[in-house]
Amino acid sequence: MTPALPSFRRRLSVVALAIASTTAPQTLLAKVTVDEANKVFRLDGADVTYAIGVDEKGYLQPLYWGSSLGKGEPLLARASKELSGFDPAGMQTAQEFAGQGEGLVTDPGLKVTFSDGSRDLVLKYRSYRMDGQSLVVELADIERPLTVNLRYAIDEQTGVITRSATVTNRGRAPIKIESFAAANLTLPGATTYQLHFLSGRHAAEWSPHAVVLSPALTVLESRRGSVGHGNQPWLAISRPGQTTEESGPVWFGALAWSGSFRLSAQTDNIGRVRIAGGYNSHDFAWTLRPGESLDSPRFYAGYSSSGLGGASRAFHRFQMDQVIPGGRQAKLRPVLYNSWEATAFDVTAEGQMKLAERAAKLGVERFVVDDGWFGQRNDDKAGLGDWTVNPAKFPQGLKPLIDRVHALGMSFGLWFEPEMVNRDSALYRAHPDWVLNFPGRPRTEGRNQLVLNLARTDVRDHLLSVLDKLLRENDIQFIKWDYNRNWTEPGWPEAGPDQQRVYVDYISNLYHILAELRKRHPGLEIETCSGGGGRIDTGIMGLTDQAWTSDNTDPYDRLAIQDGFTMAYAPAVMMAWVTDVPNWANGRTTSLDFRFLSAMQGGLGIGADLNKWTSADDETARNWIEAYKGIRETVQRGQLYRLVRPTDGASQTATFYVSPDRSQGVLFAMQRSSEWRDQWEATKLAGLDPARRYRARRLGGGQLPDGVPSAASGAYWMSHGVTLRLRGDYVGLGMVLEAAGADQSGNLRH
Ligand code: DGJ
Repeated sequence: MTPALPSFRRRLSVVALAIASTTAPQTLLAKVTVDEANKVFRLDGADVTYAIGVDEKGYLQPLYWGSSLGKGEPLLARASKELSGFDPAGMQTAQEFAGQGEGLVTDPGLKVTFSDGSRDLVLKYRSYRMDGQSLVVELADIERPLTVNLRYAIDEQTGVITRSATVTNRGRAPIKIESFAAANLTLPGATTYQLHFLSGRHAAEWSPHAVVLSPALTVLESRRGSVGHGNQPWLAISRPGQTTEESGPVWFGALAWSGSFRLSAQTDNIGRVRIAGGYNSHDFAWTLRPGESLDSPRFYAGYSSSGLGGASRAFHRFQMDQVIPGGRQAKLRPVLYNSWEATAFDVTAEGQMKLAERAAKLGVERFVVDDGWFGQRNDDKAGLGDWTVNPAKFPQGLKPLIDRVHALGMSFGLWFEPEMVNRDSALYRAHPDWVLNFPGRPRTEGRNQLVLNLARTDVRDHLLSVLDKLLRENDIQFIKWDYNRNWTEPGWPEAGPDQQRVYVDYISNLYHILAELRKRHPGLEIETCSGGGGRIDTGIMGLTDQAWTSDNTDPYDRLAIQDGFTMAYAPAVMMAWVTDVPNWANGRTTSLDFRFLSAMQGGLGIGADLNKWTSADDETARNWIEAYKGIRETVQRGQLYRLVRPTDGASQTATFYVSPDRSQGVLFAMQRSSEWRDQWEATKLAGLDPARRYRARRLGGGQLPDGVPSAASGAYWMSHGVTLRLRGDYVGLGMVLEAAGADQSGNLRH
């Protein structure tokens, strides 16, 4: 449906899109509007406006990014003037995508060296076109035959903008690319901005950090070849004093790239925030031959006026609708069992079958065999690369186990680490040249393994055919794709002087394999894993169905890990297991109830040795799994409110999930310890319909805590709140609010 055009649009030569979606409320429109007279381009989606325009000198400038502006509001690009002899006009201009030239001192979108040694690149507006729902703006160097196409689309539900850039060599000589971003972004001058980012290490990922932005450049990057456990390719920017968890402005961005990346932010000489995000220029180079193009990854950029929580929810929604395979039709995460913490490498057909029998009785829906089923894999010193079933462990192959798992009503999953090889493997003995290496230099091992050079097409094709064959020969529904080390010697000798393109070719080939496997095996689901959460980003998210959040399975540590994870990424993909105690990561012992309540806040899994569980443990687990099935759609697909965060310093933290139609809310209150100074502050719920009446029940059964009414209006739950006087250490409580008539079946939609 195209809405009636207001009069101002008559002077616009192109009014692009009013997207009518069958499911979206009619008021939500995503559109691109072009004011040709003033050369202003406007993207409007949900409650966000993003505008860019061409100034008198031909520079493309950012004009506005924030809450929706009314139609026809004045937006005009004005050329910047020289500020002083030290700050020439070109440099002062906040360009939408800046070439490294004219003395630019902030991070460029593109830096090149031409074949004659010239390194001056000045990009100005040349033309625009619409490509479906995307706006494509072409920039060109003022003299050299080089163009950059900037691509924009805006999401109607969330106002998240998808940006990318394509550089093309239109001349006759090669051009060397030294740095290439997906986007530059600018925020207007202001006294203080704060940068939020996520960082960590193995088994301690997703720790939130915040720094005040200043003229000191802040760089979030990976130089590891993969994303890694360090900085995430995600950032958010707030206004201290104005922004809280639930109010005030937040701008956020994420790079959809699973390799070495670089996001940078700083304030410039007049207090504007200048951001760049793209391939990491560290050790990177790419020769662009005549007629060739190079695409950047996508960069997602969003805005919320509802604080960090609002920004997370908008980005979660966007990921669920636009990034995760299947979008709104994507299946809910089944409850899975994974054998890793129970058996490590001691995997046998018989042992796995026993675990499968026990898992099925608990209500588990997917059984996953982890590391140790292939080659000579009895520990981490051998076998990687040899993806054939170990005959001593599985004398009749995988079939009897898979058949049994299916007969028990579960789907079957298998672990792989395709990009790696042990020296002690048939593959390495046959192809020692297939690993990343610099000839004559040491080949540094990590966990006794080397990285296959996936940038090579023969390696790519080999892995694709091995995996494809295994999936054709075995009835496998799910693979866990692991990756357990970083690059050390990123050499690709066969590519000679062009070998620094390895950073891009490797990841492009990884994406190619994942996409091809999905195409050849419809219905196959994939988990991204890298020693826990070492390779999670919105690039790989587009090709996988879920993510292994962390190897740290301690339920208390997990609350902080999950809190950080959800700042950027959706609970829809965030997997957590209930494992044995004392926990391997920190030696902590907690109750099974606490472990379930922690793991139920995303995709629930079990990773314990079920043979050691008592019948009482089984009963507890059955009860929680059943309870989870009644709320998982809300947890996985709903809106998350981080009511009391681990970073708030209170002993009790609380998360609240609200279903998209607001008919169900699920509260998790988790207490570290009872303390003499506990103040029993009321937890105010959020996101409910104030006018509707919600019945309350305790998740998993049992009495509601004293003082919590069995029914009240959404307004009551949000204004009065609930006071949960939990007693003891590492105790938790789940509470479900249900509006009349809500469906509680919890059945999977497949
Ligand atoms: C690291 C993963 O994060 C673990 O879950 C497990 O799959 C091991 N690798 C297996 O080697």
